[in-house]
Amino acid sequence: MGIEFLLNERLVQALVPEGMPVLDYLRDIEELRGTKQGCREGDCGACTVLWGRLRGGHLEYRPVTSCLMPMGDLEGSHLVTIEGFTDQRLTLVQEALVEEGAVQCGFCTPGLVMSLTGVLLEKSSVSKRSAHVALAGNLCRCTGYSAIKRAADRVVLAVEPGLGSALDKIEFLVGKGALPSYFGSIKARLEALNEKGAPRRKALTVPEGAVVVAGGTDVYVQRGAEMEAESLVRLFGAGLDEIKLEENILRVGAAATVWDLAKNADARDTIEGLADDAELICSHQVRSRATVAGNIVNASPIGDLAVMLVALDATLVVGPGDASRRIPIRQFYKGYKDVVLRPGELVASIEIPRSAARRFHFEKICKREHLDIASVNTACAVVVEEGVVKEVGLSAGGVAPTPLYLRKTSDFLRGRTLDAQTVRQAAAVAEGEVSPISDVRGSAAYKRRLLGNLVIAHFVELFGLEEAAP
Ligand SMILES: Cc1cc2nc3c(=O)[nH]c(=O)nc-3n(C[C@H](O)[C@H](O)[C@H](O)COP(=O)(O)OP(=O)(O)OC[C@H]3O[C@@H](n4cnc5c(N)ncnc54)[C@H](O)[C@@H]3O)c2cc1C
Ligand code: FES
Ligand code: FES
Repeated sequence: MGIEFLLNERLVQALVPEGMPVLDYLRDIEELRGTKQGCREGDCGACTVLWGRLRGGHLEYRPVTSCLMPMGDLEGSHLVTIEGFTDQRLTLVQEALVEEGAVQCGFCTPGLVMSLTGVLLEKSSVSKRSAHVALAGNLCRCTGYSAIKRAADRVVLAVEPGLGSALDKIEFLVGKGALPSYFGSIKARLEALNEKGAPRRKALTVPEGAVVVAGGTDVYVQRGAEMEAESLVRLFGAGLDEIKLEENILRVGAAATVWDLAKNADARDTIEGLADDAELICSHQVRSRATVAGNIVNASPIGDLAVMLVALDATLVVGPGDASRRIPIRQFYKGYKDVVLRPGELVASIEIPRSAARRFHFEKICKREHLDIASVNTACAVVVEEGVVKEVGLSAGGVAPTPLYLRKTSDFLRGRTLDAQTVRQAAAVAEGEVSPISDVRGSAAYKRRLLGNLVIAHFVELFGLEEAAP
């Protein structure tokens, strides 16, 4: 049967391996070369396409990097490339880029068009700021970013305030010239397509030698060239993306993405500051695919969500099926890129404890604000009652081979009166319990001192303890 999906306006059946990167399919098989190939690592955004799929009865579009996405995930969905916007006339976004002089060699332009159109499709309202944030994953070597930002502002001005109050967003955007008219029939076409094909609800087993792929934003960077030949266990479309409240925990399905988490009201209620912190993780395109479980299992010592979840004392529910066991995340990491998962196991969901009394704060220091990984990151989950630290979990990344629970620092703080002196002493304990290495992100001494200062920053930000600052 092949992989059946809508490519722009057309229904296709792709007879290709499910692990083939979408970018290769577009350029080599379909010969649609408007989607550019730059880094193949998710960094440049030149390969950005729009991915539309039915979720909970809605048609949801996300900008994604096609270099890191397996073909199999396209089943029953809508893939939009720049060729899908070459109808009769330029779209609103294309016109704005031209008008503002934001196109020079044009290599980055298809990706920019996709990202900017994507932000209109995803938001009930859109602001200049959200449009600029959505562009953080698109690099341009020619024009400078001022012209691109002006184009984004022009688009925002053209669609607001009508977008926020539009009953049918797609119809509204078609009317504004932001989308070609064929978008109006896509939802019905996908419904028919998905009804025809049996929903993919494979039993979640991991056969020997198979590669588990969630968002693919890590595994395709590491092994992109080999993935076509691999046997995959794909988690997208397997019904594992639900985020739900269960008494005093938030259960996050393994295939929920960083974007899903950041947009979920219960998750934002559970993790203070989540909406802002999520903008510091990956880029807009990569957040659309990067999953929470992938961030944990890839075991990067600087994984942002992993560090947050260690502080929050999350628990991983590991399958498959009835054989499931629960592993506290603080016991999940054995060493550098080494976790306690056994062959054949996968993380099915993550349980995050909830507490109305808990305050939470995350800090990430990197060389640039967006689309960069941390030199050092740290999180703090703390309950203070009547000036005394009742419960606390501090964690850090970039200062050890794994995302680290700062056990000694947390033990030191628990039961103490929260004041500037205690916080400064806690910072010194934190500096003493880590073992950073010198690398391109800074010397060991710098990272150690940075962590100490960030521990203080948690308490300055959460409790206004400015006098603790060095
Ligand atoms: C451009 C770019 C920027 C990035 N920036 C950041 C950043 O700022 N902060 C950050 O923390 N990370 C960053 N990352 C790293 C990465 O995207 C994230 O860690 C992401 O969350 C990984 O999730 P994924 O679903 O894409 O994982 P995948 O690539 O699908 O999988 C990663 C690994 O985990 C395994 N795996 C995935 N899910 C499961 C599961 N449920 N059970 C068992 N095994 C599983 C896979 O087999 C694979 O070995 C960035 C990556 C890119 C490409
Ligand atoms: S080619 Fe650079 S992000 Fe895909
Ligand atoms: S116009 Fe040349 S890379 Fe952006």
